[in-house]
Amino acid sequence: MSNVYPLQIKAVEKETDDCTVVSFDVPDELKAEFQFQQGQHLTLERQNGDETIRRSYSLCSSPVDDEWQVAVKEIPEGRFSTFINRELKANDQLNVLPPSGEFGVPVDTKASKNYLFFAAGSGITPIISMIKTHLAKEPNSKCQLFYLNKTAGSIIFKERLEQLRNQFFGRLEIYYFLTREQRDIELFNGRLDADKVNTLCNTLIDIDEVNDVFICGPEQMLFTIRDTLVENGLAKDRIHYELFVTGLSEADKARVSQLREQQKSGSKITILDGGKEFHFTMSQEDDNVLDAGLKAGADLPFACKGGVCSTCKCKIIEGEAEMKINYALEEDELDKKYLLSCQAIPTTDKLVIDYDV
Ligand code: FES
Repeated sequence: MSNVYPLQIKAVEKETDDCTVVSFDVPDELKAEFQFQQGQHLTLERQNGDETIRRSYSLCSSPVDDEWQVAVKEIPEGRFSTFINRELKANDQLNVLPPSGEFGVPVDTKASKNYLFFAAGSGITPIISMIKTHLAKEPNSKCQLFYLNKTAGSIIFKERLEQLRNQFFGRLEIYYFLTREQRDIELFNGRLDADKVNTLCNTLIDIDEVNDVFICGPEQMLFTIRDTLVENGLAKDRIHYELFVTGLSEADKARVSQLREQQKSGSKITILDGGKEFHFTMSQEDDNVLDAGLKAGADLPFACKGGVCSTCKCKIIEGEAEMKINYALEEDELDKKYLLSCQAIPTTDKLVIDYDV
């Protein structure tokens, strides 16, 4: 699994009332390992008593900046985000895993592409990194951003976005949508629902000219935008998205409790990792294979524990397991028996999984 490095905090700055930007000091000897692509995230780690807590936050800086910055929005009762927003200060240290994630697409300096971005709230974090990178490195490409917030005062990175619009004059269009403030043009009031996306496709967006679309926000918005763009003729494989999970839906909860009933008590689990084998027995109390493995002493990779980041991905070699939720694996990966271990519940007496594939 990836190494964890203690990094010094260079700066902690308030971006809005409940969002903080953290800048890390990456020493020269770690710069190669911490090199990143636009759209990737850093996983931060801290000890809370006996518990190791990790959270992944998208990098909001661009690889062209030689800066490592994440923006963290305070979530009510979110232990990590509250700590960052209220306690963390410059010169403190935090354990950090090197960048990972596959949200972005490769930069092509000769490309002349049209990128479309949809973001809600702190979903802007990976998006602003992508916008800056593509504009800086692809002089012939253009970007359109459709950005949803509650109020004008809660818009994260308003100033940075306006700077980018000026710096790359004529190549970045930004449209702000607000849910709790009324403005004169009705189109820009309220959520990005299917009607609104249809209107955008008939006015501001030339769907035939779009090369790549990136959507970052909560599930319902994300799938509504994706499906509406597809109905308007956009090829599905041009749409890339990253989900900001806000909790399990009622349907997810019902599915999880059904799965719990199917869960085999006493399943024998074998983990293959780094050429080593690790064995343990899973009990009815264990919530998922990853946590049961960590409890039994295995050193396994994880970050979000929410079925989103795929850091805990492994492959079933023998036996069967079901996932409570899966926001990360595609159909073809499921066909090849890949599994998110943080969501996995064994449904056979024996389960063998491999983390090295
Ligand atoms: S740890 Fe992120 S999907 Fe499992």
